[in-house]
Formats: sequence, structure tokens, C-alpha cells
Amino acid sequence: MIVIDWGQAMSKPYVMRQAASEDLDAVIGVIEDRTAWLRRRGSDQWDLGTGYQRMLARRVERGFTWLMEDEGNPVATVTLFRRRESTLWTADELAEPTVFGWKLATAVDHGGRGLAGLLCHWAMDRAARLDVTWLRGSVWGTSVGLHDYYKTIGSAHVRTVAQPNGLSVALFQLPARRFPEVSLEVLTRPRLDLADSASPVTVGV
Ligand SMILES: CC(C)(COP(=O)(O)OP(=O)(O)OC[C@H]1O[C@@H](n2cnc3c(N)ncnc32)[C@H](O)[C@@H]1OP(=O)(O)O)[C@@H](O)C(=O)NCCC(=O)NCCS
Repeated sequence: MIVIDWGQAMSKPYVMRQAASEDLDAVIGVIEDRTAWLRRRGSDQWDLGTGYQRMLARRVERGFTWLMEDEGNPVATVTLFRRRESTLWTADELAEPTVFGWKLATAVDHGGRGLAGLLCHWAMDRAARLDVTWLRGSVWGTSVGLHDYYKTIGSAHVRTVAQPNGLSVALFQLPARRFPEVSLEVLTRPRLDLADSASPVTVGV
């Protein structure tokens, strides 16, 4: 059962903006600050350099990336997309309607407030509006504290996959589900320039 508990009461709605190219630096800023936080804790998670930034730029351009703001300040990000191919998920799993999450991060100074729980419920709600079954993600295999965290917000561990590069990836999933109450906490602001596009994440806003 999914329990809606996003920690401390939110005093005002956050704004979730569909990021545009001019937001790329802000998105990278949240991710890189969290990467530095991981290093300080002795974690090797996301120790793959800055190569991801090119893919992120492409995903931002296509409207897949979201930036959460608190009074105009970036406080969290996630990228949502669909995919037909993956070495991690089976053909049967890929045939199930799914939105995949990528590069979820909250601002370090906003940690401990349940912000990612709120964001994941926003994403589950969004996935449900897109009429898919699952919200799925692949998680750094050795980040046990992160796995525990995902379980506390109702996420199920599907399996852990060993990769050819020696790293492992833990696959998690949440059911897509409407949470109308999330809209009281999060104001969703889609990009107007994508309103008529066929981009899968702009459908059903
Ligand atoms: C995961 C994340 C989005 C959760 O955001 P949040 O709601 O603000 O919650 P917190 O930052 O307070 O983290 C919640 C708990 O998860 C733990 N945690 C978070 N990321 C972790 C990681 N990568 N590895 C191990 N533990 C992690 C925190 O230490 C905390 O544990 P605690 O409650 O025992 O102190 C945020 O911690 C983050 O950006 N982490 C680094 C990037 C990351 O791992 N993103 C997920 C990629 S799949």
C-alpha cells in the first residue's frame, strides 16, 4: 500500500516547471551538489563523470526534465521518459506502459523534508494521467540507504542486475496512481512551446 507521507508540512505550493534549455544549469547544479554530497559520504554513486550532461541537455530540450522550485529557487529535479529498449528490463516489462524516472535529486539544503516523497507522488500522479501502469527507475546497486529510502515511500524492488562494467543496478517500481491532493502542494507548469507536441510527457497535462 502506498502511504502518502511527505514529511514536514509544506507551507506553500512548490512549482514544478518543465525545464527548458535555459534551466539546464540549474538542473545540473542540483545534481552536481548532490553528487558532491554523495562523495562526502564516501559513496561512489554517480561516479561516472559529466558525460550524463549531454544526454540531460537532449532530454531537457525534448521536455522530459522537470525542475521543482521554491519561491524561484531550484530545490529538486527529475527526468521522466518512455523507452522501448533497455538491457535492464525484460521485453515483457518493456511492453508494459511505463514512465521511467532518471536523475532524481533534491537540493542538499532541502534534504530531510520529505521532498522526494512529494516529488515521487507527483510523478506517480503524472504517470497515471498518462495512462501508464508503472513508474520505474534504476538505482545505483550499492546505495543500500537509497534502496531503504525508496522502500519507505512504497517502492518495490524488482531485482538487481549485474552489468558488464562491474556495477550493479537495482530496479524499483511504483504503480502509477492518481493523487489529486498533490496538486495542493505542487503547481505543475508545462512548457507552452511543447503544448502541441507529441512528446509523451506533455500528453494529458
Ligand atoms: C534520494 C533523494 C532524492 C531523497 O531526497 P529527500 O526527500 O530530500 O530525502 P533525504 O535527502 O533526506 O534522504 C532520505 C534518506 O535517504 C538517504 N539517501 C538519499 N540518497 C542516498 C544515496 N544515494 N545513497 C544512500 N542513502 C541515500 C539519506 O541519507 C536519508 O537517510 P536518513 O533518513 O537515514 O538520513 C536525495 O537524498 C538525493 O538527491 N540523493 C542523492 C541523489 C540520489 O541518490 N538520487 C536518486 C537516484 S535513483
